[in-house]
Amino acid sequence: MIFDTHCHLNHEDLYPEIDRIIADAEKARVKKFLVVGYDKKTSLLAVKIAQKYDNCYAAIGFHPTEIFDLSEDDYDEVMSHLKDPKVVAIGEIGLDYHWIKDPIQREIQKEYFIRQIELANHVGLPISIHNRDSIEDCLEILKQYPPKFGGIMHCYSGSVESMWEFIKLGLTISLGGPVTFTNAKTPKQVAYDVPLDKLVVETDSPYLTPHPFRGNRNEPKNISYVVQEIARIKELSPKHIEDVTYQNALKLLHIDE
Ligand code: NI
Repeated sequence: MIFDTHCHLNHEDLYPEIDRIIADAEKARVKKFLVVGYDKKTSLLAVKIAQKYDNCYAAIGFHPTEIFDLSEDDYDEVMSHLKDPKVVAIGEIGLDYHWIKDPIQREIQKEYFIRQIELANHVGLPISIHNRDSIEDCLEILKQYPPKFGGIMHCYSGSVESMWEFIKLGLTISLGGPVTFTNAKTPKQVAYDVPLDKLVVETDSPYLTPHPFRGNRNEPKNISYVVQEIARIKELSPKHIEDVTYQNALKLLHIDE
């Protein structure tokens, strides 16, 4: 059984078909889903989905490109749901220097990243981390403000060397569609080197569709391609990768089977 630790069933491209998408994923052995918010609307919807579907859990928070017009009222309204038992993480949070080039805006990203890490530490939850073209600052912040309850490097795309730095900080590495891409040398090397007890899997659907469906809209049912590729690289059975990553996710997110 598989735990998709990062999917956006709350995204407008997927939500209208959520019943069919969950049913198809279950047929593909996906047993649990972490539905991850990135702004007010999607965080509140993640909570609603988690309340309605037994096998869905919510992460709530503000993505680094979604903080610039954020009011304190909206921040507080979203975070008031942290006491909901189906909210199991804060995320996705982090830094995104791919889309944001302005140094002042990058400083605001850092402030919100730190603020949400400290909140997670305060309420006792792990975090889901988005990092794009910002790995040095991301590592620096995590060293200064270590997430006490762990977290997931969502769709990890950095080097093997940086992977060890994140693992040293107690973080778990999540691999998704890019590990299947035929030209993805670094993610495949990460898949080879990452210790099994530090690995989880995800789709980031509707994004990052695995090979051979790259370019189409992604759904959690496609996670088996990610599992199969990691299994091939590690020379283990897909079943073994499924079981280990499933148990890792339950433990990290404090979910009882
Ligand atoms: Ni995402």
